Amino acid sequence: MNTRTQQSLAGCPVAHHATPDAGRCPVDHKAAQFDPFQDAYMENPSEFVRWAREQKPVFYSPKLDYWVVTRYQAIKDIFRDPIAFSPSNVLEPVGQPSPEAASILKQYGYAMNRTLVNEDEPAHMARRRVLMEPFTPEHLRKHEPMVRRLVTEAIDGFIDDGRVDLMEKLLWDVPFSVALEFLGIEDDSDRATMHKFSIAHTINAFGRPTPEESANVAHTVGQFWQFSGEVLEKMKRTPDGPGWMRYSIRQQKEFPDVVTDSYLHSMMMAIIVAAHESTSFASANAIRLLLEHPESWADICKNPLLISPAVEECLRHNGSIGSWRRRATRDVEIEGVAIPAGARLLLVVSSANHDPRQFGDPDFFDIRRDNTVEHLTFGFGAHQCLGKNIGRMEMQIIIGELSRRLPHMRLAEQTYKYVHNLAFRGPRNLVVEWDPAQNPERNDASVLEATQEIRLGAPLAKHVVRDLQLAEVRQVADDIVLLRLVAPDGRPLPQWTPGAHVDIECGHTGLSRQYSLCGDLDDRNAWEVAVLRDPESRGGSSWLHQNATVGAELRVRGPRNHFRMDEAPTGRILLVAGGIGITPIMAMAQRARALNLDYEIHFSCRSRCTLPFANELEQAHGSRLHVHISDEGSRNDFDRLLATFDDSTQVYACGPTRMLAALEEAVSRRALPDSALHIEHFVNTVTILDPAKEQSFEVELRNSGLTLTVPNDATLLEVLHGSNIDVQSDCEEGLCGACEVGVLDGEVEHRDSVLTTAERRENNRLMACCSRAKGKKLVLDL
Ligand code: HEM
Ligand code: FES
Repeated sequence: MNTRTQQSLAGCPVAHHATPDAGRCPVDHKAAQFDPFQDAYMENPSEFVRWAREQKPVFYSPKLDYWVVTRYQAIKDIFRDPIAFSPSNVLEPVGQPSPEAASILKQYGYAMNRTLVNEDEPAHMARRRVLMEPFTPEHLRKHEPMVRRLVTEAIDGFIDDGRVDLMEKLLWDVPFSVALEFLGIEDDSDRATMHKFSIAHTINAFGRPTPEESANVAHTVGQFWQFSGEVLEKMKRTPDGPGWMRYSIRQQKEFPDVVTDSYLHSMMMAIIVAAHESTSFASANAIRLLLEHPESWADICKNPLLISPAVEECLRHNGSIGSWRRRATRDVEIEGVAIPAGARLLLVVSSANHDPRQFGDPDFFDIRRDNTVEHLTFGFGAHQCLGKNIGRMEMQIIIGELSRRLPHMRLAEQTYKYVHNLAFRGPRNLVVEWDPAQNPERNDASVLEATQEIRLGAPLAKHVVRDLQLAEVRQVADDIVLLRLVAPDGRPLPQWTPGAHVDIECGHTGLSRQYSLCGDLDDRNAWEVAVLRDPESRGGSSWLHQNATVGAELRVRGPRNHFRMDEAPTGRILLVAGGIGITPIMAMAQRARALNLDYEIHFSCRSRCTLPFANELEQAHGSRLHVHISDEGSRNDFDRLLATFDDSTQVYACGPTRMLAALEEAVSRRALPDSALHIEHFVNTVTILDPAKEQSFEVELRNSGLTLTVPNDATLLEVLHGSNIDVQSDCEEGLCGACEVGVLDGEVEHRDSVLTTAERRENNRLMACCSRAKGKKLVLDL
């Protein structure tokens, strides 16, 4: 056995029998060395475990006695299943406390037990349900003025100083005051003591105190426990007063077996830290990240609607939770690795948030990323953070106030220091500087009056806007112009895939229109769309034809893609386009050619002068291109065409509604499988909500453990948002695909234009903005 193999087996919990198999051993050299209690982990946990994410996604750490999980899907699946993966160890000390520390804690009567975050089912969901109401957006709104007042007062205190440690003067204090206010605790505490309490609790539950620290930490944690008990007793004397903890005391009267005394005391202590430390650190990490990316900071200073999406991307890219914990309750297999019952699991959520299988170009900081809300910084499923929208609100207000009052601030030279622990990550200090003479409010008091829209929930996709400039406008056929859009500061644009579209806002008309991208897939400097002046349109295309001049700025959203091409098909590809519908088809053809796939393009047009891109297509695709011009007597006969293709063919089509309907009928006559036809629609002809005709129905949210009623006068999306469930949305008329949700059971009445007939038949997803249940109930993967 070589030294490396010997090392690989050191401390391995797996029986390797007589012939050790180092390749499959969950402990190799790096796993054996893994020790997260250091600056490198705190600074960038996803980088710290990059090697594992890439080569050994699940490994055993002998130093911790934890199995470490690093990829997105595995971690999400673990969060999804609180029965097989119990949260009971979430607040448990990482190592064994020393006998001295244990005896000190005993002196204080320390009995930290189950709260919400570490409670098993079914007790957990029963408790969560009776305590969750104050966390819903409807109830949280009332806290907004309080949060803004606290942030404003804190900034008033240092705005003229030119240099401040934001952690000391804003980011620790404000979330702490907000937490006290939300919980209903009188704010008469000594802040230095509270700071000491919260650091000690973090080290005790998530850290590894040194033998010298251990006794001190135990004393402080014991005092914190007693303090929490006193606050609780005081509150019990005034149960009708404000705050979530008093609400819990009142609920205890009604549900004494669900909201127990032990729960209340443990929760009081745990929540003071959970509610403020996670938010303080998340805000500090976000501000640091934004200031390290001046172009993104400039974007949000210019357009505050980008703050909510930027907060979400900061939570993904540099969130305040490094890892979270679970315990396997039975023998399980994760990514092919067998893990025994009782094993402790460390889920490196910050690594999941940088997994390229989930987030394209994951280390790239992009405040307009379309799926950033899928990050796991708030956990997922039944235990997903109840306070996420308070955290989001605080972060949006803090960043909003700083960006309008101190847009010129920058990071000072500094070395960041951390409290080493597995979970809560953020710097102890964050020093910024600026020139007070440049403070905008000195010259223009109206800066202080600007209002900021706070988003309690997933960012609205319609706010994720990019200001682009028209670099070229070219007539490509009668009534069709090609628009070439670039970033005004020349920065690269995100990569897109064939079939993707963008939404272009038509000035201040309130209209926006969707256009498929059709330029060069490899060109990161520009996006191209073609716009037909449509006499029957509601004015969007005419506006663009009149106002699209070189140098003009346009607000663009996306790209988003729900018309994806299978890049590894088993059969041939038939691309069908009518008129301006050629745009997504061109991009698909370009990709099919690059991949050497077997494809044919059938392009129909009324007359030769309405035929765009004829030369480009001819040059690029030669005999694979077939043009049908009706004025010249050449029509595309779909029945005849489909007869020349076999059953393994995939058909992609975009064009006028009549053409698509004819194609659908021909596909059905030819008896091709439903899954063979992929259609891009840009108009939805179905009514989204007609309360007079709708039935109410129930939705069971399997991962969140909730059942909600969707009344006849509300959409499913509205009901989900009202209950704090994060689902993105954009068009809210069944066109864009942003609000897709997985369906586990129940029949769906689809009203969108996104899903194909085959996808509808699969009955495993729906668009929440418009679709409803056919029967009385749906079970959703939420
Ligand atoms: C649970 C993160 C703010 C209250 C959690 C969990 C995480 C988390 C990772 C565990 C999720 C799981 O096990 O699946 C965060 C972050 C925050 C934040 C990153 C700020 C940016 C808050 C605030 C409050 C709060 C402000 C309260 C005012 C809770 C509660 C739970 C929880 C009560 C337990 C939920 C349950 O187990 O049912 N949070 N949190 N959090 N958080 Fe937060
Ligand atoms: Fe666009 Fe639902 S929000 S399809």
